[in-house]
Amino acid sequence: MIQTPYYLIDKAKLLRNMEKIAYVRDKSGAKALLALKCFATWSVFDLMREYMDGTTSSSLYEVRLGREKFGGETHAYSVAYGDNEIEEVIGHADKIIFNSIGQLDRFADKASGIARGLRLNPGMSSSSFDLADPARPFSRLGEWDAAKVEAVMDRISGFMIHNNCENKDFGLFDRMLSEIEEKFGALLSRAEWISLGGGIHFTGDDYPVDAFCERLKAFSGRHGVQIYLEPGEASITRSTTLETTVLDTLNNGKDLAVVDSSIEAHMLDLLIYRESAKVEPNAGPHSVMICGKSCLAGDIFGEFRFPEPLKVGDRVSFQDAAGYTMVKKNWFNGVGMPSIAIRDFDGSVRLVREFTFADYEQSLS
Ligand SMILES: Cc1ncc(COP(=O)(O)O)c(C=O)c1O
Repeated sequence: MIQTPYYLIDKAKLLRNMEKIAYVRDKSGAKALLALKCFATWSVFDLMREYMDGTTSSSLYEVRLGREKFGGETHAYSVAYGDNEIEEVIGHADKIIFNSIGQLDRFADKASGIARGLRLNPGMSSSSFDLADPARPFSRLGEWDAAKVEAVMDRISGFMIHNNCENKDFGLFDRMLSEIEEKFGALLSRAEWISLGGGIHFTGDDYPVDAFCERLKAFSGRHGVQIYLEPGEASITRSTTLETTVLDTLNNGKDLAVVDSSIEAHMLDLLIYRESAKVEPNAGPHSVMICGKSCLAGDIFGEFRFPEPLKVGDRVSFQDAAGYTMVKKNWFNGVGMPSIAIRDFDGSVRLVREFTFADYEQSLS
């Protein structure tokens, strides 16, 4: 028995996503790069690299991790690089995508040995959160003005456009891509490659994958470009749980259970976006509010239904715990860091990482 809390990555579930990604690559001709900002747990990269072309990154450390642990095609992107890191970034990357013309001006010469690209901001997105909307007013994420971009075409061979966000709606993806073609069409046709970023939930159950592949293929043919996709969430969705144990129960007007984890420390995105965690099957007569063990008053995973009242020692598994969780976990309150375990195809579970007091201590000085 592995001591909770731990993230449990199920390889068979991960494989379902990988097979869909491989299908899309095959049918559309697009290449797929894992977005490390979402998921960087390299213990399962041996499986993922069979189905994906490489990685994309948002920093020096991510690009280095991608190069060293995943291999394949390695794209470098960052909102801004510093003088102290640019050479190392270039050393790890096959392509570097600059966020602005200012960064391109500063670093294009240094990066002349690899392919260079620019992030475009089409001024529209599928995000329902202002916080995560790349097209929010005054957004710093990419260049908006086609005339300005035109002037630097001699120094770049491609573009990255990331404007989808948790987008399950193929129609919306299609419409936005058409608007992008209208806005930047002439420039797109002068590029050799275009990355359409992440945020497209094409590995979801009801997603019209064939229509998606056709659309990508038509886009690629029309503009004569190699398409890249940068799936983060779509690569790992529904592959992982966060396993916890009930430490205490109370009734303060509602039945409450405190588990040996913390939403703030271990599933931070849910707190940021004010979303509930997921528990399955979430059915039964007993409603319990599951709370984390940090001191934050709002450290609450959500309210769920159970067949029996929860008691100390019961296991609670939070679903869909791979994306933006392990990459964001933190030492708030010194809460014990979840280990990382993998369920192999034969059903056996092995622990791949444990964290101790030394890790906590070494994260500070
Ligand atoms: C440039 C870029 N590519 C890819 C991704 C991955 O997005 P997702 O995990 O929603 O697929 C993001 C997420 O913010 C991003 O900013």
